[in-house]
Amino acid sequence: MTTEPAADPQAGKSWSVEVYRFDPERSVKGHLVSYRVPRLEKMTVLDALAYIQRYHDRSLAFRYACRLGMCGTCTVMVNDIPRWACRTSIERLGGETIRITPLRFLPVLKDVLVDYAPFFAKYRAAEAYFVPGEERAEIAPISPKSRERRAIDPNLECITCGACYASCTMLAHDAEYLGPAALNRAFTLIRDSRDGARAERLAAVGGEHGCWRCHSLFNCTEVCPKHLSPTRAITGLKRSIVLDRLRSRLR
Ligand code: SF4
Ligand code: SF4
Ligand code: FES
Repeated sequence: MTTEPAADPQAGKSWSVEVYRFDPERSVKGHLVSYRVPRLEKMTVLDALAYIQRYHDRSLAFRYACRLGMCGTCTVMVNDIPRWACRTSIERLGGETIRITPLRFLPVLKDVLVDYAPFFAKYRAAEAYFVPGEERAEIAPISPKSRERRAIDPNLECITCGACYASCTMLAHDAEYLGPAALNRAFTLIRDSRDGARAERLAAVGGEHGCWRCHSLFNCTEVCPKHLSPTRAITGLKRSIVLDRLRSRLR
């Protein structure tokens, strides 16, 4: 004779939230811990982390700042997909259980708090920073309607959240790969007529760990919370490298 499993008194009233816990001062590896979090209206993944920290364990470490989808600091893996925690509704994820783990390919400092230093080091390696082409005393705006500006519109307003970086399978093969975010920024700069480092930047992004490593599977584009397309930017970098080489041969 089989017996009915006992009904879970919390079912329908709460979610089960599994959170990766790791304290480098206490152990060498982390593990998942399950917490019950009440179903509150419009509850986000960030709300769940805050609830757990407040009512279950004060030592839980995670990062956030704006809570409005502007700073990008709250990004974590939710059910193995990188998402901004403050704008991810638990209800919309469906299911009774969610799993929150640290962003992939970045060192874990504690729990779901990661060190972004390697992510930003890739910006330096890609020379993904503005280098003025000439000294100007006055502001040099580029019209939003200009061809130059429209060409990079789909790649502007990155919030450096790292979601694309954590989704990129190439980083599992090559930890030094520059990654979608830095390459996306490099692309916007080589299309900026005020910038003076096109050749140096294309040399940096065209190296062994640069844009040629991208296999254009669009993982980064799919997860970007700002709906940017780093994949498109990387294709643009490849095209620019080829065109510049052809032009230099024809000179
Ligand atoms: S399209 Fe390129 S940069 Fe984007 S996830 Fe794939 S390999 Fe990485
Ligand atoms: S390109 Fe998108 S996913 Fe990548 S860091 Fe910028 S905002 Fe985040
Ligand atoms: S806290 Fe700023 S984007 Fe989530």
